[in-house]
Amino acid sequence: MKNNKSIGVFDSGYGGLTVFKSIAALLPDYNYIYLGDNARSPYGDHTFETVYEYTLECVEWLFAQGCPLVILACNTASAKALRTIQQKVLPLKYPNHRVLGVIRPTAEVIGTYTSSHTIGVMGTRGTVNSDSYPIEIHKFYPELRVIQQSCPMWVPLIENNEHEGEGADYFVQEYVNELLGKAPGLDAILLACTHYPLLIPKIQSYLPADCKLIAQGDIVAESLVAYLNHHPEMETMLTKKGEKRFFTSGDHKVFDKNASIFFDKAVISSRINLKK
Ligand code: DGL
Repeated sequence: MKNNKSIGVFDSGYGGLTVFKSIAALLPDYNYIYLGDNARSPYGDHTFETVYEYTLECVEWLFAQGCPLVILACNTASAKALRTIQQKVLPLKYPNHRVLGVIRPTAEVIGTYTSSHTIGVMGTRGTVNSDSYPIEIHKFYPELRVIQQSCPMWVPLIENNEHEGEGADYFVQEYVNELLGKAPGLDAILLACTHYPLLIPKIQSYLPADCKLIAQGDIVAESLVAYLNHHPEMETMLTKKGEKRFFTSGDHKVFDKNASIFFDKAVISSRINLKK
């Protein structure tokens, strides 16, 4: 195990498993380590400093397990921690390691999903308040209208396995209607939180039939394929035995039960202790 070089996949909790599922389907041969910081999730309402501190600690833990490449499969961590890690931490402490996020690869292709040149972005308060999506999307599609909607109740509903219950309808309808009210003619909505794909059937039921709902899993997986193709120095270093290991900072039995809902397969995890 020690000499194995795995791809690390990180999320505040379970949501990153929706991205990991797409990555593992497209790139089944690599070794992977998934880490969910369930003990400290959700991250959505934490300050920049806290999200940065937690994310860096998890990234460094994945580095120590032999992951030269880590994917932040979490929009909140990508919005609040990625840039500082890439610009300040890696060059000084880990010049041969790489950390990639989910916002840029999504922003690169998002314009292809809308004909009305208007895109809705639904995410946590942290992601929405950071304005990372409008900023990144406008680099690639300067004309696109980006209408954001924060959905602070959705991650707690999903993390507590209440996303299929009747109670979830209230909050799904509330945030969808708020967004539609701000953006008449909207024809595409990005789910800018890796937890939200679990709510797709409910969200869809409150949307006009011609409005597309976009989840990030496949987009991020395809951009990882492109990254590995362009970076043979990283690609050749990675172990290809198709092994997947799962870790959580929370209760591992609870993790295993809930994780299978996100990953569509049985998951067996181990618990790790994080410092703070
Ligand atoms: N999956 C995370 C994201 O994509 C959830 C954030 C949270 O922990 O609040 O933003």
